[in-house]
Amino acid sequence: MEKKNIDWSSLGFGYVQTDMRYVSNYKNGAWDDGCLTDQANVTMSECACVLQYAQTCFEGMKAYTTQDGHIVCFRPDLNAQRMADSCRRLKMPVFPEDRFVKAVVETVRANAAWVPPYGSGASLYLRPFMFGSDAIIGVKPATEFQFRVFATPVGPYFKGGIKPLKLRICDYDRAAPRGTGHVKAGLNYAMSLYAIVDAHEQGYDENVYLDSGSRTFIEETGGANIVFVKGNTLVTPKSDTILPSITRRSLVQVAKDYLGMEVEEREVALSEIGDFTECGLCGTAAVISPVGTIVDHGKEINYAGFGPTIQKLYDTLTGIQMGRIPAPEGWIEVIE
Ligand SMILES: Cc1ncc(COP(=O)(O)O)c(C=O)c1O
Repeated sequence: MEKKNIDWSSLGFGYVQTDMRYVSNYKNGAWDDGCLTDQANVTMSECACVLQYAQTCFEGMKAYTTQDGHIVCFRPDLNAQRMADSCRRLKMPVFPEDRFVKAVVETVRANAAWVPPYGSGASLYLRPFMFGSDAIIGVKPATEFQFRVFATPVGPYFKGGIKPLKLRICDYDRAAPRGTGHVKAGLNYAMSLYAIVDAHEQGYDENVYLDSGSRTFIEETGGANIVFVKGNTLVTPKSDTILPSITRRSLVQVAKDYLGMEVEEREVALSEIGDFTECGLCGTAAVISPVGTIVDHGKEINYAGFGPTIQKLYDTLTGIQMGRIPAPEGWIEVIE
């Protein structure tokens, strides 16, 4: 199969329309058989529930080429589970988890020419998503839904690649106690847009959100979980209102089983972040991106950027993903 003629190493994190996407529709209480289509546009009622009441959720994952030339995907079963959780919280019908994984695999296969080659630093980002599509004017869930998966080749999420990030403690909140912070609802991202534009205008790469109940504990950023390092210990916030990052859960296992580190998943107070030596953001898009500075209202806290532990975590996780280091059972879904 001939690859597309793209300068893979200069790709940013943007949308490029690829050849095929997967679509399935839900109507009269059931999902149809689903299929691949070349139709990238969606047509629906002006009163569709997604347009009026933001009834939509999504996932983000990557396919890439391993050292030995296979196209693989990283832990898609966990994306399927998390999307099912998002659907239940938003009163949307779950797209069966096994069908979710099959839809992702089919979408990757149909766009194999768009999967960046090994060593390019790029990958094929996959975006499964679902929305309420029928006309709803009183506030209630839709009865018809569409599930889609599209693919787009991407480079690094943060501009400047692996330059250490500059974050700020944000005065806006991301998620309410007992709200939807723990699921991947579109609405969580809509409400973060004001804060991220403002952060960029002020010269920051991302916002660090605090728990909105007490505003004393670290939660996460707009698009990634956060990890800290102190000695041989990896510390990461535990909270009911952060998104359970698949990358963070994987890094926790890598830290324990591959690097022999201690791991603390616990509340992390804003007042203690100066005690850590390294800090990183983790997510599908970010992998693990080193943090150089967090600014808390004029007070600067500096970290080692690509310090030794963040570097080891990065090397080990990407080594597992790229097939250079043996993966734990079930982490790598070989597509072809
Ligand atoms: C708010 C938020 N937190 C964390 C993550 C990281 O999750 P994952 O590692 O599953 O990609 C994401 C998505 O990438 C996110 O949007």
